[in-house]
Amino acid sequence: MHPDLERILFDEETLQAKVAEMGATLSRDYAGKTPLLICILKGAALFMSDLVKRIDVPIEMDFMAISSYGQSTKSSGAVRILYDLERPVEGRDVIIVEDIVDTGLTLAYLRDTMIRRQAASVKIVSLFDKPSGRKVDIQPDYFGFTVPDAFIVGYGLDYAERYRNLPYVGILKSDIYATG
Ligand code: XMP
Ligand code: MG
Repeated sequence: MHPDLERILFDEETLQAKVAEMGATLSRDYAGKTPLLICILKGAALFMSDLVKRIDVPIEMDFMAISSYGQSTKSSGAVRILYDLERPVEGRDVIIVEDIVDTGLTLAYLRDTMIRRQAASVKIVSLFDKPSGRKVDIQPDYFGFTVPDAFIVGYGLDYAERYRNLPYVGILKSDIYATG
């Protein structure tokens, strides 16, 4: 285990099994359709790349980056598009792929944006759900694991851009971000 972690919550095998299960569910729910999966960079990049390999209906992929915590572990509440989609979502069955839903502010903004752009349908899939952090009443349509009120890193999730490459997910030691 990485020395900056307090403990591991989900090992690689557990993550992969869950992602496979979520891919199977999406394959059933989107049978006969060609959904557009939108990966929210950068946190969801690893989840997205494993998830699409487990979906057996035709899909398309696009990417979007929005402002998030920056170097802090608390959400600022302000959401801003840093990098937008390549193509219009009008008439498409959109699946927003997120790493974690915390306050819900990001998802509420993204969902409204896709509806405003006239997507045919909008669903949210998030690997992690942190219900204790919620500030707006929004739930992912699909999620993998509920996580405790702690800052987690690994498998795409970062603190100050570090730890994204860990193949497992764990709780970061609080002195790492307390001291910067
Ligand atoms: P909101 O609060 O808008 O935020 O639901 C979602 C985004 O916040 C980040 N986030 C985390 N990142 N460990 C992380 O590495 C965490 O425990 C955590 N909680 C929230 C994440 O970028 C997510 O997309
Ligand atoms: Mg993020």
